[in-house]
Amino acid sequence: MKARIIGTGSYLPEKIMTNYDLEKLVDTSHEWIVTRTGIEERRIIADDQSTSDMATIAAQRAMEMAGVKPAEIDLIVLATITGDYPWPATACVVQANIGAKNAFAYDVSAACSGFLYALSSANDFIRAGSGKKALVIGAETLSRAVDWTDRNTCVLFGDGAGAVLLDAQESDSGVLSCHLYSDGNYLELLYQPGFGAKHPPSVEGIEAKLPYLKMQGNEVFKVAVRSLTEVSKEALKANGFGSADVAQFIPHQANLRILEATTKRLKLTEKQSFINVNKYGNTSGATIPIAIDEAYHQGLLKEGDLILSAAFGGGFTWGSTLIRW
Ligand code: UT7
Repeated sequence: MKARIIGTGSYLPEKIMTNYDLEKLVDTSHEWIVTRTGIEERRIIADDQSTSDMATIAAQRAMEMAGVKPAEIDLIVLATITGDYPWPATACVVQANIGAKNAFAYDVSAACSGFLYALSSANDFIRAGSGKKALVIGAETLSRAVDWTDRNTCVLFGDGAGAVLLDAQESDSGVLSCHLYSDGNYLELLYQPGFGAKHPPSVEGIEAKLPYLKMQGNEVFKVAVRSLTEVSKEALKANGFGSADVAQFIPHQANLRILEATTKRLKLTEKQSFINVNKYGNTSGATIPIAIDEAYHQGLLKEGDLILSAAFGGGFTWGSTLIRW
């Protein structure tokens, strides 16, 4: 029994923020951002929308593609670090929105690796026979978690959502493996200090900008390239494949330089590697499902193709998956 992807969907907010728009907010330039990150523009959620709204549309699109009705969904796993509320889970909001009355729903918090953690979790439920159809969603509203006066971070992120619909099938196709890792020793290199139990809401906390994302970018960069490469190699080795067998490498989209360095170390060609960080920036847990949806609609994913995916993010967390399309 394998968990096979039978539907994909995504939602990107209409509002585009370019690097030139950012030049008006902070001391930066289009040239710096493109050269250091590859990002040209990102999407920003509308004032009256939230993470659950984007996740709901992405999920509905995945169900529509698969021809699956809401009542058939057994579980909804949503990867996010920018949920609607501290609790309950944004997955429960999505469940109500789409009318998936037979599903249980929960969020996964693993930052930029969140989608792969969510996929792995849903895959395990399906393989254990605890459900047949699972929606796995990545949705983020990072525009409300960044400090718009901090040029080190605000130029990197964007909003969006993506979803895949998994179905239990007796098939050679589906999720072949998931490898996940964490190392909490690196927590303060990439995190949002407030407001939680450690730093509860306070006026001083707002003044100290605790509710905003903090990152030591170049430290994260080095560990990211090394970890993405190692965990991708592990996925290939565990399944007896090499780089030449990969049809598409769909990594977490954080920075073009990270993607190029990883692709080179894995000896993958440009044609094998899917990149859209230029259009959307880093949407954390949403980058991989958005990219899978785009790759599918561009005709890049064909039945039997091997899809390799890897992610790295806050925690630190990292992981990979190999999927037979
Ligand atoms: O998705 C989860 C994981 N996250 C990542 O993978 C992100 C990993 N890190 C990165 O992508 C890169 O480290 C960054 C894009 C964040 C930064 O690129 P960098 O080449 O590592 O630059 P840097 O942090 O070493 O900064 C170089 C210079 C600094 O100035 P000084 O100290 O050399 O004078 C920064 O202050 O660039 C400056 N800088 C900027 N200049 C113009 C930083 N941000 C900006 C900016 N515009 N937006």
